[in-house]
Amino acid sequence: MNSTLNKIFAALLIAVFIAGLSNFISGQIMAPQVLEEDAVPIEGAGAVSGSVAAKPKGPEPILDLIATADVARGEKLSKACTACHSFDKGGPNRVGPNQWELVGSDKGSKAGFNYSDAMKNKGGKWDYAELNKFLYKPKDYVPGTKMTYVGMKKPEDRAAIIAWLRTLSDNPVPLPSETDIAAEKADLSPDPEPAAPEVTEEEGSDSASTNEQTTEQEESPAEEEDSIIAPEPEPVKDMTDSGEDQKEAPSIEETEPAH
Ligand code: HEC
Repeated sequence: MNSTLNKIFAALLIAVFIAGLSNFISGQIMAPQVLEEDAVPIEGAGAVSGSVAAKPKGPEPILDLIATADVARGEKLSKACTACHSFDKGGPNRVGPNQWELVGSDKGSKAGFNYSDAMKNKGGKWDYAELNKFLYKPKDYVPGTKMTYVGMKKPEDRAAIIAWLRTLSDNPVPLPSETDIAAEKADLSPDPEPAAPEVTEEEGSDSASTNEQTTEQEESPAEEEDSIIAPEPEPVKDMTDSGEDQKEAPSIEETEPAH
């Protein structure tokens, strides 16, 4: 009984010793590296990189998607609109105007519907490009509109519903032409030029200097790291470096009485 307890105690002691020793050894071999930057950029955390900042706000161009868009899916998506809009020929105006023959019509032109001033004054026709911008976020594109719908954020969704809206007509307007598609892209695509200078010359000269920096810095952070990780391996150090520790300890005591 007693000897079994002794064995268990001895085993535990050895286990603790080995754990401490391996911690010490691995600490000596593998100096932990503190990264200056996150290895994987975290979106929305602190500094924003150029590519994220250049991300376009607002509606993406969709005219090139309309010809091949899933019209049946567009019809399903219109469930989000039927609380306020009817879509059938001769259907009633509800909270919002009837939508038959909407594509290609003048804005705010459905007879018998009381549009907001914002919509009445917007001007122009509901062509594909205008519908895309409006449906992305109605309140942004027509500030003051009575349409309280929040908007459709996915480009494929907007393309699908607009492709379906086009079919709600005795004589659907033609699909977007190549010229229409190019014009929309020029209108909505973010200017690629601001991003370009970052990648070209500066990048080349920068990389040379950052290389120098990293080699210089490699030494100093290593020292800092030592002081950071010092508390952990201390128990083991006490055993090995006890001589030094003892020398230091009295020196503190000596100075204290002097005060
Ligand atoms: C909460 C009610 C509501 C919902 C939901 C809604 N709308 Fe509207 N919509 C309106 C109102 C109200 C107007 C009139 C806006 C004005 O006069 O400012 C309008 C206007 C419009 C117009 C302009 C019509 C014209 O004759 O000029 C279009 C296009 C439109 N809506 C499309 C949609 C589509 C597509 C959906 C679904 C994705 C949708 N709406 C969802 C209330 C709604």
